[in-house]
Amino acid sequence: MPPTITAPLIRVGPPGPRARAIIQRDAEFVSPSYTRTYPFVIARGQGAVVEDVDGNLFLDCAAGIAVNSTGVSHPDVVRAIVEQAQKFLHMSGTDFYYEAQVALAREVAGIVPIAGPVRSFFGNSGAEANEAAIKLARYHTKRPFLIAFLGSFHGRTMGALSLTASRAVQRRGFGPTTAPGVFHAPYADCYRCPAGLKPATCQAECLDFLEEQTLVHLVTPDEVAAIVVEPIQGEGGYLVPPRQFHDRLQALARRHGMLLIVDEVQSGMGRTGRMFASEHYGLQPDIVTIAKGVASGLPLGIAAARAEVMDWTPGAHASTFGGNPVACAAALETIRLLRESLIANAAAVGAYLMDGVRELQQRHPLIGDVRGKGLMIGIELVRDRASKARATAERDEVVTEAFNRGLLILGAGRNALRLSPPLVLDRGQAETCLRILDEALSAVERRHGLVG
Ligand SMILES: Cc1ncc(COP(=O)(O)O)c(C=O)c1O
Repeated sequence: MPPTITAPLIRVGPPGPRARAIIQRDAEFVSPSYTRTYPFVIARGQGAVVEDVDGNLFLDCAAGIAVNSTGVSHPDVVRAIVEQAQKFLHMSGTDFYYEAQVALAREVAGIVPIAGPVRSFFGNSGAEANEAAIKLARYHTKRPFLIAFLGSFHGRTMGALSLTASRAVQRRGFGPTTAPGVFHAPYADCYRCPAGLKPATCQAECLDFLEEQTLVHLVTPDEVAAIVVEPIQGEGGYLVPPRQFHDRLQALARRHGMLLIVDEVQSGMGRTGRMFASEHYGLQPDIVTIAKGVASGLPLGIAAARAEVMDWTPGAHASTFGGNPVACAAALETIRLLRESLIANAAAVGAYLMDGVRELQQRHPLIGDVRGKGLMIGIELVRDRASKARATAERDEVVTEAFNRGLLILGAGRNALRLSPPLVLDRGQAETCLRILDEALSAVERRHGLVG
C-alpha cells in the first residue's frame, strides 16, 4: 500500500477471485464453528485502512473485534516486536524471569483502576484472563459461587463459558455446559428497561432481581466469591449502564465481602476515551481482566488484582505461553501510544462520531437507540420505534451493505451494530464511516419499505 492511503476503494466486488479461492480452502480445512459475517480476506493494512487480497481498500471500524487498538501494524509496535523477537521469542515466565514481563506488570499496576499495590497474572486471551480471575476469586475467598450477568460475554473456555450468557448457541451442545455455581442476573438495558424507568432517575431497579430473588432464594451472599461484570456490555449489544447500576453493584459486593471482578477485555485499553471504562463510573475492582487491545493484536490476557487478593502459592496457576515476551513488548509500546495520544483521540473522534450517528438517527427510522463512550459505539436497529421490534435481519443486511461499500463493521447483541475502530481513526475517516452507514441504512430501509 502507498504511504498515505484513503479508503474505501472497491476495485473488484468483494469477494474477488483471490478471496473466493481462500474462502473455499478455509471451508474445507478450518473449523466450521467460526462466525464469519462477510467474506473479507485481509492482505495487509495500515492504521484504520485494510486491503483485501484482491486489492480493495476498506475503512476498518471493526479492528479485529476491538483488538487493533493502535491500528494495523503500527510501526512503533512492530519495531518493539522485532527488537524483542531478535533477542528471544520465548522463555516461559512460569519458570524463568525476563524483563519485559516484569516491566509490563509494573506498568499495568500503574494504569488499572485498583487502589493500592497490584499484581498481574499473564495468559494468552480474554478467556484465560477470566479463567484466572475465577480461580483466584475462589482460591482467595474460599467461597464457591459467582454472580454474572445475562447478555455477558467472558470467553468460551469452560470456566469463562460458565460466566458467558450472551447467545445460547455458545452453550448449545456442550452440556452440562459449564462449571457449576454461577448465577446470572439481569444487566442494565436502559433502552428496554422492563420497569419502564429512565436512567436519569432510576435506582438501578434491574438489580432488584439479584438482591431480592437470587441472593434470597438461591444462594446466600456469604457463599459468593465474586461478582463478574463488564462495565459496558460488549457482545451483549454495547449496553451502557447508568452510574447507579455500578454504584449499587459495588456497594453490594463490599457489603457482603464478595470480590468485584471487572471484565475490561473489550472496554479497556483506551477504547472508551479513558484507559478503562471503570473510570467513567468510579469503579474500584478487586480484579480487572484485560486482553484484546492491550498488545495491538498479539495474544495476551492479563488478570490484575489487588496484591492482597493475589495470594495463591507457587504452582496454583500458570501458563507456558502466558506473558510471552514479544506480546509483552507489544503491550508496553501500545500503552505508551495510548497514553501519548490515542486515548485522547478516542475521546475526541468518538464524540464526533457519536454526534454524527445521532444525526443519522434523526433521519433513519431503523435506528432505535445510539449509545456508547469514546470509540465504543452501539447502534440498536428496530423495525418500528414504538414497538422496538428487533431488526435483526435488517442489522445483518446493513453490515453487508456497508461491507460492499468498503466499510468493515460488526454486529453486537441481537440487533445492534457496533463501531469499534482502531483508536487512530481520524475525523475524515469518521465522516467516511458516517457517509457509508447513511447509504447502507438507506438501502436496507428502501428494501423493507421503511421511511423516516
Ligand atoms: C468482555 C469480553 N471478555 C472476554 C472475551 C473473551 O476474549 P477472548 O476471545 O480473547 O478469549 C471477550 C471477547 O469478545 C469479551 O468481549
